[in-house]
Amino acid sequence: MTISATATENGPGNETGPAPRLTVIGTGYLGATHAICMAVLGYDVLGVDVDPDKIERLASGEVPFFEPGLPELLAKALDSGRLRFTTSFAEAGAFGDVHFICVGTPQQKGSYAADLTYVDAAVTELARHIRGPALVVGKSTVPVGTAARLTELLHKTAPAGADAQLAWNPEFLREGYAVDDTLRPDRLVFGTTSAWAEERLRAAFAPVIAQGTPVVVTDLPTAELVKVAANSFLATKISYINAMAEVCEATGADVTGLATALSYDDRIGGRFLKPGLGFGGGCLPKDIRAFTHRAEELGVGQAVAFLREVDGINQRRRARTVDLVRELAGGALAGRRITALGAAFKPNSDDIRDAPALDVARTLHAAGAVVTVVDPAAVPNARRAYPELTYATDALAAAAGSDVVVLLTEWAQFREIDPHVMGDVVAHRRIVDGRHALDSVQWRTAGWDYRALGRP
Ligand code: UDX
Repeated sequence: MTISATATENGPGNETGPAPRLTVIGTGYLGATHAICMAVLGYDVLGVDVDPDKIERLASGEVPFFEPGLPELLAKALDSGRLRFTTSFAEAGAFGDVHFICVGTPQQKGSYAADLTYVDAAVTELARHIRGPALVVGKSTVPVGTAARLTELLHKTAPAGADAQLAWNPEFLREGYAVDDTLRPDRLVFGTTSAWAEERLRAAFAPVIAQGTPVVVTDLPTAELVKVAANSFLATKISYINAMAEVCEATGADVTGLATALSYDDRIGGRFLKPGLGFGGGCLPKDIRAFTHRAEELGVGQAVAFLREVDGINQRRRARTVDLVRELAGGALAGRRITALGAAFKPNSDDIRDAPALDVARTLHAAGAVVTVVDPAAVPNARRAYPELTYATDALAAAAGSDVVVLLTEWAQFREIDPHVMGDVVAHRRIVDGRHALDSVQWRTAGWDYRALGRP
């Protein structure tokens, strides 16, 4: 990777003064990636987590989740001596000049609101140990207004008082491309309340800024909103094309042709316009719900009421996929053998948070089908969460004797399956392509009954 060469040339600690020492609080998908990449860029980084197991694994060179390219960079960062891990907030407070808060903000149980327990705990614990000028930077996705509240909490709790400042720097990384998105982001957004905070952030991202990355400097609420506005837009785009798929189904039109035709309009573009089973994961679903909830609290619920429909369209895709499998299985699911290809919420990830694939598999199972879930990376996570399902890692072996195969996550391994070879092992050549990932002509030519949402 050429990035470390870039980092040395333009890197931290040049004419802008000594490079700030960084801590990263929370070492999940976001925090671990950020900590590792910042160390690779040349910063001294301390990763902090309350989970000793996670910290031990990272310190010994093991990335505790699936992310292409990250294990290699972790090895490199550890070798450089610039990356260390700890569970001690006292150590973090003493070490860091700039502290990044990267803990999760999941959906609250029984509510659409975001659960801010982890963010509040991280800022409180850290603040107790901040004794001199330091910048605390929120990266977690939070309801607008959280940063203002955390500023007060920080000033009140930190021995340094108002010398401990708060800034917001939303993170846009996609799982599966997290390394690239961190090292070469589309843009950096700095929500700040002082010139000093902006200068600290610029120093903390010097090598990234030196590549020409656009920097948007703004206030705290705008920075908080950028993230949810971006994710809402992406979710809306996906649900828009999936709404068109519903209309296509009622008219005999083909949503894949429709999407292709729309994509040539530069104003629309083809990205995030891929119809199918819809969005899932740890961000899009819970972010649009938390946004709706927060907007209602602020008295502007009507402005984002459409996001409830975006969510509704997305949920219907899951139900409709189950319907298609039932149709292909002859109208009933009880006792039918179903091979479900995919568990992760998208390919190149082992993340099963709000995974559409597992939602479909569980509904099929609940309806009495005998379901085997196949995934190259997410089986351990899926098995832990839903032990009632049967799991496999080899698609062909799992498909032996199958009544219906349903593609739910478009891993390359699944796209490359030879329909003739799989046709030889199944009981019936019936497939539902939940992600429009397969060549329908090729599968139909091989004798399969091929069905996909929004296509004749
Ligand atoms: C998303 C945002 O893209 C990222 O900027 C933000 O920081 C975190 O949330 P991520 O959750 O990793 O990233 O996944 P993403 O690649 O955005 O996909 C989200 C979901 O949408 C997946 O389930 C994917 O299968 C689905 N999707 C995506 C579609 O159904 N159709 C599309 O055209 C694109």
